[in-house]
Formats: sequence, C-alpha cells, structure tokens
Amino acid sequence: MFSLPLAISLLVLSELVDAETIHIPLTRRAPTRAHDLDYYNSVAAGLRGKYNYGTVEPGVSGRRRATVDGIPVINQDGDTSYLGTINIGTPPQAFEVVLDTGSSDLWVADSSCASCPSTAAAFISSSSSTVRATGGATTISYGSGNVAGTINQDVVSMGSNFTVRSQTFLAATRLQSGLLTGEVSGILGLAFQAIASTRGTPFWQNLLNAGQLAAPEFAFWITRFGNDPEAKDIEDGGVFTLGGTNATLFSGEIEFLDMAGSSTPSYWLLPLQGVTVQGQSVSVATGNNALSAIDTGTTLIGGPSADVAKIWASVPGSSRASNSQGLYTFPCKTQVNMTLNFGGRSWAISPDDMNLGPINSAGVTCAGAIFDLNMGSNIPVGSGNPSWVVGATFLKNVYSVYRADPPSIGFAELSTAAGGSGTAPGTRAESGASTLHAQSATLALFALSFIASLYMFV
Ligand SMILES: *[C@@H]1O[C@H](CO)[C@@H](O)[C@H](O)[C@H]1NC(C)=O
Ligand SMILES: *[C@@H]1O[C@H](CO)[C@@H](O)[C@H](O)[C@H]1NC(C)=O
Repeated sequence: MFSLPLAISLLVLSELVDAETIHIPLTRRAPTRAHDLDYYNSVAAGLRGKYNYGTVEPGVSGRRRATVDGIPVINQDGDTSYLGTINIGTPPQAFEVVLDTGSSDLWVADSSCASCPSTAAAFISSSSSTVRATGGATTISYGSGNVAGTINQDVVSMGSNFTVRSQTFLAATRLQSGLLTGEVSGILGLAFQAIASTRGTPFWQNLLNAGQLAAPEFAFWITRFGNDPEAKDIEDGGVFTLGGTNATLFSGEIEFLDMAGSSTPSYWLLPLQGVTVQGQSVSVATGNNALSAIDTGTTLIGGPSADVAKIWASVPGSSRASNSQGLYTFPCKTQVNMTLNFGGRSWAISPDDMNLGPINSAGVTCAGAIFDLNMGSNIPVGSGNPSWVVGATFLKNVYSVYRADPPSIGFAELSTAAGGSGTAPGTRAESGASTLHAQSATLALFALSFIASLYMFV
C-alpha cells in the first residue's frame, strides 16, 4: 500500500530537489506545482484505508481496465469444498481459500495461530511490506464454528487481472477445530458487505466499485467427484469467472431472478417456489417464507425441519439418522430424483448428488444430501434469515451467476463440456448407481462425520 505519509514526504523531498531558490519554506508547497492523478489517488487510498474502506488499484493510464477472468477452482474431498487461490501481501503470499457466496469476510490463518491446521499456508505479516493492522479485532461465526483474529489491510489479488490495494481481511489467530481441513487457509466471502463481521468491503465489491469487472457479476461452474471411487482429495473444481460468464460452460439462456429479502443485500437470496421428489410435488413453505441462500461454501442443502421431514417422507424406507446433525438415511438402491423450483422453473438435482454413500459396511443404507438445518428450532421467518441453505449438492447441477446490479441470481443449464444439467456426468452413465456401492464404507463413514461437521459456511 502506498501510504499517505510516504506520498507527502516524497513530494516535499522532490520539491526541495527541484527548487531553484532556497527561499521556499519546506512546510509550504510551491503553489505552481500541480499534482498528478496518481497523487490524488494515493491520498484517496490513504483516506479510505484510515476509515476501513478498501482501496483499489486505480484505473489510471489504462494500466487497469475492466476485465473478465476465469479462475481455476479446486474440488476438495469429493465435493466438500470448492477452493480458489488468492495472494496477500508484498511480496505475495498464496493461500487456498473456500470460495463462499454464503458469507462476506475474507480471512486466512495467521502464522501465530496455534489452533490452525499446520497443513495450510499461514499469513506471515512481518514478511509483507504493505500490511497495515487497523487495530481492530473480531470474531466471525459460521454454522460450523468461529474464527477470531485481528483486522488488517493489504494488497490482495486473484487470477492475473484483479488486485485490490488495501483489502480488509482477518488474520485468524484462533480457530474452532474442524473449521478448516487440509490445505485450506481460510474463506473468501462473496456475499454483500452488510453481513461482513470485519465491516470491510468484500473483495469482489471492491473490484466492482473500482470498475475492474467487465460486467457486475461473477459465475461458477463446480465439478462433481463425490460419486467417483477413484477421486483424490484434490481434484479440478471447475471455473470461477470474475467479471462475467464463460459461454463454453452453459447452454441456452441464463435465467436471472431478482433477489429476495430486504432492500439492502446481505446473502445471495432467492425465494424457493417448490420442491418435487420422485416426480411428485412436496407441500413445503414457499416464496418469502422460504428464503434460500445460494451458497457455494456449503456442501449440502439444509432446510427447515418440517419441510425436510416431508421431503424424506416421500422417499420410501428413509429415516432420520440417529446421532447426526439432522441427516437422513435411505436405501442405497433408491434413486432420489429431486428438483428445486426457483422463479417458476424446476431444476433437477442428480441422484448422485442426493446420495452421500453408505453409512455402514453392509452398504444398504446411504446418507442423503438434504438435512434439517434448524434441528427443531425454526429460524424466525421474515427476519431476513435464510430458511434454506442451498449448497454444492444443488449448484453442481447448474451454471450459477451472481449479479450485483440489479441484485439477482442466474441459473443456466450446464453445457455438455461442463457435464450437462439434470444428469450426472462421468462414470455414472456407464456403470450406473453401483459405483456408489463400490465406495469403501469406511471412507463414506468418515465422509459423513466430516460433512456433518463442515456442512455450512453461512
Ligand atoms: C472458459 O472455460 C473453459 C473450460 O474450463 C476454459 O478452458 C476457458 O479458459 C474459460 N475461458 C475463460 C475466458 O476463462
Ligand atoms: C428417477 O428418474 C429417472 C429418470 O427420469 C427414472 O428412470 C426413475 O424411475 C426415477 N426414479 C424414481 C424412484 O422415481
């Protein structure tokens, strides 16, 4: 970050060098000296930094222009988390972070964090020449745990095109166990500033405000490996496109739906308009009584107790799993065909995504991907809180677009290249649902408890 005191002292020094006479008092600027745009940009940047606004790479001299870029996504642990790489600091330190449309803070593990996983990269603030501690500290609460730390600002970049000079982020010094696994260092929140615990402007909104995005939107194609017994811990996760969409990844039109909820956007919210299971409509609450957070940071789909119970009641042989976090089980041989209706159109979820695999070595009982979000205590309806959290289980089946202006969410069918919508790509087509049964029961059991602890990042 180009700080304000540095800008001024350089200016004074250059005046001293340029001056033909020595009569000019050092404390007074030469009246004839004009400041160029870079100077005012640095002043503005310093002021924004002071008041915790993000500062942006100024679009001067055509060095930065509005652009669109496809950022590779990593699929971790068979569709559990979708990650992207960000760089923080000068010189840049790289981190893998959960790309999370269900929250609005950016945070990464700090090198001083003893409770953060040692397998993940941690931010070394003494190694960045541009980091600035704001003096603030906060705790961010997620469905799956809390993270606490200090609030900082530094240069944050993503892909080859996008840089925010003074991005607010939390350097996490304390982490509830289980919140991060593997090589994940933190979370990049992609929802709106209104729900940011750090109060900082989210990275994507800083890019938008600076005119760096060719279109006021970003989009996701995320891959499916949960049904692949050969899948490694880390697989290709798809494409996160910042500043536009990628036409090779969807077919037909993108159907944009106005956001639901209050006039100040918070989560990416849509009203759920209906649910079908095995081709039959299920009588769930709909519309503004069924606000759904469209959430790339959540593995599964969570909904209100009563509605989730009705959905599973439509699947013969299903039951609520004991000792679980609101999960249900059903006979592995049953294909669960489910659709969610947004904006009048029903979007199919692949039966492979509905089945998390067997829960015991017999391999006859499988866990389902829709769980009871409130476990009996219903979130108050109409408070702006989402009733549903719609995660990767659904989002693997569509191309999803998050548009800031006007606030709206778009869905389109996946192109054949992206696996297609309404069907499961890859092995399932050849070998059928039996691939699921081939999964090691131990692995599936592990996945179940793992998913239960990690299922939401709202
Ligand atoms: C669009 O997605 C395809 C398929 O992943 C990728 O090869 C291509 O680079 C992407 N295009 C852009 C502009 O990101
Ligand atoms: C699920 O849908 C497929 C394809 O439409 C169909 O063949 C199958 O019978 C359906 N299964 C159930 C249990 O409804």
